[in-house]
Amino acid sequence: MAQAHSASLSGRGQSLASKPARVDMELFMEAAQNLYHPTDNPKGAFPLNIAENAGMIPLVKTQLDAILNREAIPEWAFQYTDPKGHPEVREVMAQFMSKHLCRCPVAPDSIAFSAGAAATIEASTFVLADDGDTVVIPAPAYPMYTNDMGVKNGLKRYDLQTHYHLADHGSVSPLTTGHLQAAWEDLQQRGQRFKILLLTTPDNPTGCIYSEGQLRKIAEWCIRHQVHLIVSEIYGLSLIDVSDEEIRQDYPEAATYHSFGRIMAEMQSDYLHLWYALSKDFAMSGFRFGIIHSLNEALLRGLENVNIPHMASNLTQWAVGELFKDDAFLERYIAENKKKLTASYKVAVRALNTIEVPYIPSRGSLFVWADFSKYLKTDSEEGEETLWIDIYRSTGVLLTPGSGFRHRKYGLFRVVYTALPLSHLEEAMQRLVDYFRSRA
Ligand SMILES: Cc1ncc(COP(=O)(O)O)c(C=O)c1O
Repeated sequence: MAQAHSASLSGRGQSLASKPARVDMELFMEAAQNLYHPTDNPKGAFPLNIAENAGMIPLVKTQLDAILNREAIPEWAFQYTDPKGHPEVREVMAQFMSKHLCRCPVAPDSIAFSAGAAATIEASTFVLADDGDTVVIPAPAYPMYTNDMGVKNGLKRYDLQTHYHLADHGSVSPLTTGHLQAAWEDLQQRGQRFKILLLTTPDNPTGCIYSEGQLRKIAEWCIRHQVHLIVSEIYGLSLIDVSDEEIRQDYPEAATYHSFGRIMAEMQSDYLHLWYALSKDFAMSGFRFGIIHSLNEALLRGLENVNIPHMASNLTQWAVGELFKDDAFLERYIAENKKKLTASYKVAVRALNTIEVPYIPSRGSLFVWADFSKYLKTDSEEGEETLWIDIYRSTGVLLTPGSGFRHRKYGLFRVVYTALPLSHLEEAMQRLVDYFRSRA
């Protein structure tokens, strides 16, 4: 391969070539090549940093293997189709969303597919906002939002700080319209335009949800200020059983999960939108299948033009359509996911409780957000990185460092509890306990 001469690239190409998209990517590749196994590789690594729902793959795979054995690929899969998605598949996915995700009618012509959540994020925010506009996101938040909306679209991320200590957060987001008003005024003073508010529920990384009343008030505020409110429900069917005896005392708030789709149906506004993808709940990150749901017809018309390079392939659309036609499978799958998720979550928080590491009680998602700041040697980004690497080198456990999530406190890490088999997760958490005990 020719030596990389980034000077031959565009300015933006040079900037992209100069750094990895994620700080933990290199170590992830290393850990993934050296996976722990109790007998074959007992000194191996535990990558708990990438949000994958690996334990659920066998269920989806069995179902898809049967479909591929039974059904012939339709001719339309070889041809061009509607850039928003094939009409038959949109019909199936709208039914799935109506029954399982949103629990209210979702029309097929109000959804469009792209190649995963990342493509959905990029294509839809391209149509909603202009270069230089600001997207407000409560902190901490998914690091890759910065790239997905910033690299090609030029949107700026504003990390809205709602709390400092985890104890001031809880399992329901602390975000209020007061925070939004303060951000609005701050941005106005800086001459920036607050164009989009982006919420994730259940959230990445906190696992918190937004209550129905909260979503309604936030939506009203956004409509009044002509701000687009996008709610990502990419973890919408990965909900923890908060009535489980071992953990229920962690959830004093009465809130239950409420899909934003229902508020959209009620308010019928051009400013309200929902994102979904199959990467997390359905353990299909490699399929690259994302969905935008919006009642804004102009947005969907605009997407027809910009979505062509972002489309999920027709073969994927067809396979997904066949999979999601089977409602008995979906019911079984969603229930099993909740059971497995709750079991893994309990393993993770049991260990955190043992070493008295504070965490946000999660209502959903594939991870728990924990505060290891008492172990920092220096209260700084460098101190956080040193601890992160030392945990990995000493125990083989690779966490996601807090820095990209942009919460202002140092020493917070995200622990993914669905990436490994339960017994391997138990081993990983035990190693963390031993590591921190030896430093206490
Ligand atoms: C909130 C959120 N959005 C988007 C993504 C990316 O999903 P996809 O693989 O479908 O692009 C992730 C993955 O971790 C995520 O947590």
